[in-house]
Amino acid sequence: MIVFKEVETLTKYISKIDKTHTIGFVPTMGALHKGHLSLIKRANDENDFTVVSIFVNPTQFDKAEDLNKYPRTLNTDLDLLEKVDCNIVFVPSVQEVYPVNATSEIFNFAGLDKYMEGLFREGHFDGVGTVVKRLLEIVKPDNAYFGEKDYQQLLIIKKMVETEKLPVNIIGCDIYREPDGLAMSSRNIRLSKEQRKEAPQIFKTLNEAKEMFKNSSISEVKAYVEQVFQKNKLLELEYFEIADASSLKPVTTKKPGEKYRGFIAVFAGKIRLIDNIALN
Ligand code: PAF
Repeated sequence: MIVFKEVETLTKYISKIDKTHTIGFVPTMGALHKGHLSLIKRANDENDFTVVSIFVNPTQFDKAEDLNKYPRTLNTDLDLLEKVDCNIVFVPSVQEVYPVNATSEIFNFAGLDKYMEGLFREGHFDGVGTVVKRLLEIVKPDNAYFGEKDYQQLLIIKKMVETEKLPVNIIGCDIYREPDGLAMSSRNIRLSKEQRKEAPQIFKTLNEAKEMFKNSSISEVKAYVEQVFQKNKLLELEYFEIADASSLKPVTTKKPGEKYRGFIAVFAGKIRLIDNIALN
């Protein structure tokens, strides 16, 4: 495994890889967990080389505190990456990624950023689009892998790649969960013992919403989810939306033949957790 800190040395190395070989890329912000490792395993299985980046991207955080408290566990991350046979790791500084200044490009995501995370985290998706575009241009992978926990991010990245005409396949991977159902997230390690014990309620409620969705109206399902969290002392609901699975536009009525997804954001103290589920 080779670790690069500079764009120049990384691109030089990658440019020497035989063009008949494929490159799989897994961009991360570090604090790696089994969810990331499952993406890396898939990249390993489907490509000749796997590149992983570790970069806590400042432009996608709307709150300085969230950025400062984002877990940073580089040495453990590198040990894990070595164990899962990652070939190349890119750990750039902010200066390497943003040589001029760390600001976001403004994208047109065809409305995909107007709901849910886009409403509650101002500028977040422009920051994600900016860094992913930059990383894809540096690494030039054939395939890039993203988890469905950030489902809205996944669709936004697919849209960005399409409009910017970047020659890469964006591959969405199933959400990787703890045995009790909590979606794996780098933020989970910040949960207190009590919050961690309570957090599986999120996926449990999503499953109940899915079951209810078969025979109840959208407003009934939403009201049910809201009252579950009203009763919970440790988890505070920020939003629960039922949206069209492709446009991500929240809906108030079901139409036959359409696919819907439930999206949720919950605070456990100051720690924000998100999850989502296919409803039909
Ligand atoms: O999902 C993440 O960890 C980040 O948003 C990403 C895609 C690595 C961009 O910083």
